[in-house]
Amino acid sequence: MTIWREDGTSYRGAVIRVAGDASLGNNVYTVAVAMDIDRHLQFIGSFKRIQWWTICVVMCIAILVAWFAVQWGHIPIRRANEKIRAITASKLDTRLNPKEVPIELEETVASFNNMLGRIEDGFEQLSNFSADIAHELRTPVTNLTTQTEVAVGQSRSADEYREILYSNLEEFGRLKRMINDMLFLAQTENDSHSLALESVNLTDTIQGLFEYFEAWVEELGVSLRLKGQAVPINVDREMLRRALSNLLSNAIRYTQRGETVTVGLSQDEQTTTISVENPGEKIPAEELPRLFNRFHRGDPSRQCKGDGAGLGLAIVKSIVEAHRGVVHAVSDDTMTRFEIVLPRSA
Ligand SMILES: Nc1ncnc2c1ncn2[C@@H]1O[C@H](COP(=O)(O)OP(=O)(O)OP(=O)(O)O)[C@@H](O)[C@H]1O
Ligand SMILES: [Mg+2]
Repeated sequence: MTIWREDGTSYRGAVIRVAGDASLGNNVYTVAVAMDIDRHLQFIGSFKRIQWWTICVVMCIAILVAWFAVQWGHIPIRRANEKIRAITASKLDTRLNPKEVPIELEETVASFNNMLGRIEDGFEQLSNFSADIAHELRTPVTNLTTQTEVAVGQSRSADEYREILYSNLEEFGRLKRMINDMLFLAQTENDSHSLALESVNLTDTIQGLFEYFEAWVEELGVSLRLKGQAVPINVDREMLRRALSNLLSNAIRYTQRGETVTVGLSQDEQTTTISVENPGEKIPAEELPRLFNRFHRGDPSRQCKGDGAGLGLAIVKSIVEAHRGVVHAVSDDTMTRFEIVLPRSA
């Protein structure tokens, strides 16, 4: 079967050659049986055209639908992005709604919210800290200004000037202590890796501190006692001394004449515990964790001697945490005890 064109028409058919009878002169005849297929070809041509058009249109629709689907599916993500873009230091309370994003992103959004929460806490602490610093520095600076103004208001004798300078010196001393404490806190919190770890015999360290406080406790009529023992642990000697000295000075300050401050040492397989206990009034349980906040000074009615800045326990906490330990306070009707628990493998 072949297809051929003749006079503008297409044919499909078969052509055979047939040899004629010898009596008729051995002629060879060509016999063709064919069908006009123009109409079929036209039909197939238009069918192909329609098919191509259909494919093109369907593809365009599919692309459009896919584009819309992607855009629509991204709406919650874009909304979340807009919210995130709008977060500034003053809008840290913004939270994304995990129900508004695709299910695969729910966990990410929850983690993001948690992160925001932590940043918000840190930020709040930092801004409270700045406010506290300003507040704490204002009192001694105001005292100094007032005293100096009064001093220069009229001419005075050398003795009077000396007295005023002494009083100023006291305020300067307070300011210096406070600034040193704040610098120390900033350093231990930012640079916890620079601990000079060495094996420290706790009994010797505590005996050394008892000697350091000897004159003061004698004056106050308070006695100091060490109870228990512990194997040497790896700590930064100077830092631990500072932490214990802060606890001891508090305990001594809050102990009545004739009473005893007890430092206890104990250990188990993983930890060493150092406790500093003094007899005294109960501190309400809800206040105990707050004692470790910077510039926190207890209830004014309980607040007795001394005019500390309220940084002592914050320093204890940051030193203990730099050693990967924990510090907490317990108090009942008869005593208050601060406990430092340090890992033995530090
Ligand atoms: N042993 C204690 N008994 C009762 N209250 C205490 C004791 N130790 C601390 N506190 C309370 O905790 C508060 C905070 O103590 P912290 O040592 O941080 O500050 P401070 O002693 O007032 O000042 P600083 O130590 O900076 O000179 C104290 O003001 C006090 O109210
Ligand atoms: Mg103190």
